[in-house]
Amino acid sequence: MLFFLDTADIDKIIFWKKKGLVDGITTNPTLLSKNGNEPTKVLKEICKIVKGDVSAQVTFTRTKEMVEQAFFLKSLAKNIVIKLPCTLDGIDAARILAKKNLKINITLGFDPSQLGIFQKIDIKYFSFIIGKVEDHGLSNLDNLRHMKLLIKKVNKKIKLLCASIRNEKHLIHAIINDADVLTVPPSTWEKIYSNKFSLQGEKDFLNAFNLLSPELRKKYQTKKSINKILI
Ligand code: E4P
Repeated sequence: MLFFLDTADIDKIIFWKKKGLVDGITTNPTLLSKNGNEPTKVLKEICKIVKGDVSAQVTFTRTKEMVEQAFFLKSLAKNIVIKLPCTLDGIDAARILAKKNLKINITLGFDPSQLGIFQKIDIKYFSFIIGKVEDHGLSNLDNLRHMKLLIKKVNKKIKLLCASIRNEKHLIHAIINDADVLTVPPSTWEKIYSNKFSLQGEKDFLNAFNLLSPELRKKYQTKKSINKILI
C-alpha cells in the first residue's frame, strides 16, 4: 500500500515527505489554482521533489484536446501520470493514451460499475472518490469492497486509488478494503495526528510527572548529545 499526498502545496509536500507519507502526489485543477501560481511551474517543482508518480489532470472536456494536453503534461517530467475524468470523452482519451504507453489515472470514479469499460484499457490507477459523495448527503464507504472485487475481475493491472479521504473513517475503510494507494490531503493527516486524546494524554502524563521534585525530574530527564542528522 502506498500513500500519496493530495496537494499542490510545495511546503506541505516537503513537510509530509519527511514523515514518510509521500510515495507520490495527486493534483487536480482546484489544488493547482489555489495559490495563483503558474500550474506548470508548480508541477515541475513537485516532480523534482517527489520521485513517485505525480498526477496532473487535464482541463479540457473533449477527447482531442485532452489527448493534446496530456502529451504536453507528460513532457514536463518523467513521473507525470495523466489524470482523466471518468466521462465518455475521458475514457476515449484514456484508450488513445494507454496505447501510447502513457500512465493514466482515471478520476471522479464514484461507482464500481464505472470500471467495466477498463477491461481492455490499461490504465494505471482508478481513483475512487470517497469524501466528495458526502457533500450530497450520501456515503460511498459500502461501495469500496465492491470496487476491489470488480478490479480483480475486470482488469487486475488496475490499482485502486482511494481519494477524497477527509477523515479517519475514510482512511480506515480504504485500508481494510485493500486499496493499493491512498491519496490523503495534508489537512486529513493534520487532523489525525492532532488527535485530542493523544494531546490530552501527553499533557496529563507530564502534569503528573511535574509533581516530582525538580531534583528527581532532572535525574530522569538527563539528555545525551545526538548527531544532528538524526532529526
Ligand atoms: C483526487 O485525486 C482528488 O484530488 C480528490 O478527489 C479531491 O477530493 P476533495 O474534493 O474531497 O478534496
